[in-house]
Amino acid sequence: MSMSTQTKSITIKAFRFNAETDYLPAYKTYEMEVGKDELILDLLNRIKWEHDGSFSYRRSCRHGICGACGIKVNGKPVLSCKQNAQDMIDLFGDELVFEPQSQKRAIKDMIIDKGDFWEKHAAIKPYVEADVDPHPETETLMPQTKVEQFLDADYCIQCGGCHYACPVLEVNDAFFGPAAFAAAYRFAVDPRDTAAKERLEMTAELGQGVWDCVKCNECVEACPKEVNPFEKITKLHNMQFEQGVAQRNVATKHAEGFTRSIKKFGYLDEQDIVLYSEGLGVVKHLSEALKMVKAGKVHPFDVMKKKMPRSEKLDEIQTIIEKVQTSKLD
Ligand code: SF4
Ligand code: SF4
Ligand code: FES
Repeated sequence: MSMSTQTKSITIKAFRFNAETDYLPAYKTYEMEVGKDELILDLLNRIKWEHDGSFSYRRSCRHGICGACGIKVNGKPVLSCKQNAQDMIDLFGDELVFEPQSQKRAIKDMIIDKGDFWEKHAAIKPYVEADVDPHPETETLMPQTKVEQFLDADYCIQCGGCHYACPVLEVNDAFFGPAAFAAAYRFAVDPRDTAAKERLEMTAELGQGVWDCVKCNECVEACPKEVNPFEKITKLHNMQFEQGVAQRNVATKHAEGFTRSIKKFGYLDEQDIVLYSEGLGVVKHLSEALKMVKAGKVHPFDVMKKKMPRSEKLDEIQTIIEKVQTSKLD
């Protein structure tokens, strides 16, 4: 790699695939000198303009606002027109791999079928549903405190970066996904909206809703607009409890089990949480438990005689929980 302060010479391996003619994708290699101010979008353009006019990718605004140009660079989701190329070289070295956000949805090179993303976005009702006077005499005023509740959910540009980085969506097509959850939150907290409960019910359902999120934070890291979808997911968890929409299931009981354990001991008792959230269903973990005993990872007598310590400040912890706990399933 040449290391002048201005340019770096690199190899780009780009995913090439045409769903109309190819059975399998292939990676093609392009060599180029990259200037310090060039963006990943500039490199996509240079592949097309300097090497192969048939190379295909989406872009429109070039200003990080239309959400069209999301791809993955060495597996990392990026918005091409916002991502400096040399920062990627610093991170990954002099071989950059360009791939579409989702290879199984590839139509042509970097272009994917985002149909599943848009279907989920539409299903969540990404608009204010309100019974408003069509000819109001005054404008509807929105207090600043209410606007602040939107957090950064309004900044989403529907790029799909978080959606196609989410490991749950990779294995569960029914899961709404982080961008849809961020939109559900945005409109559920809007004081003018009348469909909030419907959104909370949709996002409470096991299989498709927020309780199937595995809290991996990939969506937060993928987002080029700092929307922080996981923060909105945790807000939806709370709203479902507060508005009586949360259903009694393993996931919600697991959340309650945390509070219950801390309230009881001031510490987390992991065995108690599993027993509380799964009840008799805990027998399904018996074979794993036996394997752990066999592997010497746990000793059965330690488990039986285990006595949880109690925090010295337990009464203070209990007071804090009582003050901040807004609701529970019962
Ligand atoms: S935190 Fe949840 S929604 Fe976000 S990527 Fe991970 S599993 Fe998906
Ligand atoms: S939340 Fe962020 S990553 Fe996800 S679609 Fe919106 S802008 Fe893109
Ligand atoms: S081209 Fe519009 S966001 Fe990149």
